Amino acid sequence: MYNEKVMDVFRNPKNVGEIENPDGIGTVGNEKCGDIMQISLRIKDDIITDAKFKTFGCAAAIATSSTATEMIKGMTVDDALKVTNRKVVETLGGLPAQKIHCSVLAEEAIKKAIEDYRSKKNA
Ligand code: FES
Repeated sequence: MYNEKVMDVFRNPKNVGEIENPDGIGTVGNEKCGDIMQISLRIKDDIITDAKFKTFGCAAAIATSSTATEMIKGMTVDDALKVTNRKVVETLGGLPAQKIHCSVLAEEAIKKAIEDYRSKKNA
C-alpha cells in the first residue's frame, strides 16, 4: 500500500528522539486514530537548527515526520509554518488516501512547537 520512498523513510527514519531543553516543543494527537506525535526544536535567531520527533504512530506518521523534520531544518520559523502536510506528502511521492490524516500530525506538531517557542520568547 505504501510506495518505495515511504517504505524507505519508514525503515530509516531521520531525527527520531527528543532535543534536550528544546527551544520549542509541541505534542498533538490524531483524532482519527488516537496516535500521538511530539516534535522538539532547537531554534537560534528564528532559524531552526535542529528538529526531532517521537511518535506513537503508524508507518505514514513516521515517514511524514522524518521528512517534515528534514525539510524544516535550516528554515526560518516563518517558512517552517508554511510547510503543509500536502507538501510533505508530495515530497514522499504520495500516500494512500486513508493515510493522509497521519501526515497532518507532523504539520500540527511543528506549528505547536513554534507557538511554544514564540510564547517562551515573548514571556
Ligand atoms: Fe494513526 Fe497513522 S494511523 S497516525
